[in-house]
Amino acid sequence: MKDQLKKLEQEALGEVRSAADRDSLETVRTKYLGRKGLLTEIFKKIGEVPVAERPEIGNLINQVKNNVAAALDEKLRSSAGAERKVEKIDITLPGVSFKHGSTHPITRTIEDISEAFLSLGFRVVEGPEIETEHYNFEALNIPLEHPSRDAFDTFYLHSPAGSHLLRSHTSPVQARFMEKNSPPFAIIVPGRVFRPDATDATHSFMFHQIEGLVVGERITFADLKGVLAIFARQLFGEDTQMRFRPSFFPFTEPSAEVDISCFICKGEKAKAQGQKRCSVCGGRGWLEILGAGMVNPKVFKNVGYDPEKVTGFAFGMGVERIAMLKYGINDIRLFFENDVRFLHQF
Ligand code: PHE
Repeated sequence: MKDQLKKLEQEALGEVRSAADRDSLETVRTKYLGRKGLLTEIFKKIGEVPVAERPEIGNLINQVKNNVAAALDEKLRSSAGAERKVEKIDITLPGVSFKHGSTHPITRTIEDISEAFLSLGFRVVEGPEIETEHYNFEALNIPLEHPSRDAFDTFYLHSPAGSHLLRSHTSPVQARFMEKNSPPFAIIVPGRVFRPDATDATHSFMFHQIEGLVVGERITFADLKGVLAIFARQLFGEDTQMRFRPSFFPFTEPSAEVDISCFICKGEKAKAQGQKRCSVCGGRGWLEILGAGMVNPKVFKNVGYDPEKVTGFAFGMGVERIAMLKYGINDIRLFFENDVRFLHQF
């Protein structure tokens, strides 16, 4: 009986070792340890064993049972681990999707415009949104009686430190930069500006501008035209035409307002009879995009430059207006309402 038990143990352990999965391990367990299993059968025959040998055989049977059970448990534990590892990667499951944000159209327009000027050697500079009257007006030759200094046109702040205001344009950075740097240089200045306008489809009390300033020896109006032409073609397309109309700004002389040919109708619809008027330019064929001019010698004097030695040009454009033209957006308020249905389109 001892030999029979040893043989059975070897067989059982062998079968445990070669069992490939959970199910075959359970089969082995039933075969040897189950209620009608081989070891149980042997135990039932213990009555045939001489009384003197019974304790020894009984012990042996229990030992074999325990060994087989331990081997089964051990194998189950390790193969369960392996099975779980396999289950982890179910390549048939749909992936986890992440919500992507997108660049705000104003940020994107600022980046597009900046890129055009950076490629021409311009540098990006920033200035404070809370300004002094000096930089916002005086340094730029804007006289006291100028309408833009009126409280209806500018946000003034109560401040004991002197007269502060929210800058009404990015031009004050011209004066700030010139005071700290010497020509030659070429800079652009993107940033927020503030005017107490009643909000409607084309007005907002806060909007963005990009200022440009180039100062050096023998900088001419031809340089201004050349730089702006390259910028306009890069932003609105190779066949873009430009038009300069005489204008007035206290800090530039001469001054101009600059139009580009309508990049939607190319001015054609204005001429074509019976066709619907272009919704972007209203059939005029031109779009006003910025103000510009040669830096007024008085501004150079205000910052300590010698206007006999250096000349320069400046320009300023409204970012919202350009973004509205470029993307066909008809209401400036959409930029600031932050409706994701609007923002996701960019
Ligand atoms: N600062 C002017 C404005 O806000 C724009 C401008 C800038 C004009 C530089 C000429 C030169 O309207």
